[in-house]
Amino acid sequence: MVINENVERKIIPVAGGKGGVGKSFLSTSIALSLATLGKRVLLVDLDLGGSNIHTWLGMKNSNPGIGMFLNNKTTLLSDLIVDTPYANLQFIPGDVMRFDLANITFAQKRKIMKAILNLDADYIIMDLGGGCNHNVFDFFLISSSGFMVITPETTSILNTYMFARNMVYRFLQRLFSNDKEVMKYLKGTIKNNVPGDPQDVESLISGIAEFDETAAEKAKNYLSILTPGIIINMAEEPDDINMVNALKGLIEKNLNIDLECLGMIFFDKDVKQSLRERVPHLVENSESVSASQILRIAQKIALSENFPEMPYDHKEFNSSFEIAEVEAENDFVILKNSGFSNDDYDVEKLLELVKKQRDMIAELQGTIRMMSTGGGSEGGGGFNLPF
Ligand SMILES: Nc1ncnc2c1ncn2[C@@H]1O[C@H](COP(=O)(O)OP(=O)(O)OP(=O)(O)O)[C@@H](O)[C@H]1O
Ligand SMILES: [Mg+2]
Repeated sequence: MVINENVERKIIPVAGGKGGVGKSFLSTSIALSLATLGKRVLLVDLDLGGSNIHTWLGMKNSNPGIGMFLNNKTTLLSDLIVDTPYANLQFIPGDVMRFDLANITFAQKRKIMKAILNLDADYIIMDLGGGCNHNVFDFFLISSSGFMVITPETTSILNTYMFARNMVYRFLQRLFSNDKEVMKYLKGTIKNNVPGDPQDVESLISGIAEFDETAAEKAKNYLSILTPGIIINMAEEPDDINMVNALKGLIEKNLNIDLECLGMIFFDKDVKQSLRERVPHLVENSESVSASQILRIAQKIALSENFPEMPYDHKEFNSSFEIAEVEAENDFVILKNSGFSNDDYDVEKLLELVKKQRDMIAELQGTIRMMSTGGGSEGGGGFNLPF
C-alpha cells in the first residue's frame, strides 16, 4: 500500500458503494482541476467493462486500453498513455465490453497494480467503477487514502458503509495473509456472526489480542493509516451533510478508521448536458457553483501539506466535515442569488425537503441499529464479505 502522506506522487483510487453516484464525473473533473493548477495528472480508467472516461473528456474511444496491456506481453501500461486536449492531463483508457474488474485473474490484477506503481505523475487518479469485489477493494487499497463518492440518499449511505466495512476486512485479511492463526480467527468470527453479537473492528481486535497481542497491536497501528476521503455529490442543500455525519459516526465507531471530507457538490442539471455535448462540465460551465465546488476540492488536495488531511483553520473548525458544511451553506446562498432557486426553493419546498431528510435519517438510524446488533449484516449492501 502506498501511504499518500508526505510523498510527492499521490495515488488516489475513486470508488463508491453504488453505481451512478458520479465517480467517473468526479475522477475526470478533479483530475482536470488539478491539471489546471499545474500538477501533472494521469487519469486511469479502471472501470473495465464500463469505461467511459474518454466520453467525460470529450475524446473518441479509439485508443488501445488496459485489455491490450493484459493480453500483450510487450505492451507496457505506460505505452497506453494518451494526451488529452488539456495541458498536464493524460489518461489511460479502460476497455469497453472486454473485461470486468471482478473477472480478471489474480495474476492480471498483480500485473496492473505493479504497473500503476511504476507510473510517473504528480497525481494518479483511478476510476474504479461501481463493483464491490475483492479486486475493487485491492485496487482501492493500493493507497491509504482513496476517495469514496456518495450521494445523500439512504441507499448510497448504507452501501458506502458496507463498502468501507468490507474494505477494512479485506485490509485485515491482506495484513495477516501469512498468519494462519489470525486468518483462522478472522474467518471464523465473521462467518459465525450471530445476531446480537456486535461485529465491530474493536471487538475483532480484542479477540485477536486474546491469543496474540502483537498481532492486535499491528492491526491497530495499520488501521490508523487508513484514511479514506468522502465526497458528497449531487447534494440538494447544505443540510444533506447530516446524513453523511451519521455515516461518519458509524464508520468511526464500528470500523476504527478516520475519514476526511473533501467537500460537497450540488446537483447541477448542466452536468448531463455537458456530457451530451462532450465538453467537460468544468470547461463548458466554468462559472457554475458546482464547478467552483470541484475546483475547491482540487485546491484542498493540492494545498494539503499532510494529505489526506484537508487544510483548514484548526482553531475555528473541528473537522473537515464541519468546514464542508460551512462551504456548502455559502455555496447555497450563491446558488440562490444566481436565480436558480427562486421558485424551486420556496418555503414549502424547503419544509418538504427537511421532512424528507428527517425521515431518511430515522430510517438510516433504524438500519444502523440493526447492523450493529448483527441482524441484516448481509442485506444492506447487496454484496458478500470478502472472506
Ligand atoms: N453533481 C451532479 N449534478 C448532476 N448530475 C450529476 C452530478 N454528478 C453526476 N451526475 C450525473 O450522474 C450520472 C452518473 O455519473 P457518473 O457516470 O460519473 O457516475 P458513476 O458513479 O461513474 O457511475 P457508474 O457506477 O455507472 O460508473 C451522469 O449522467 C452524470 O451526468
Ligand atoms: Mg463510472
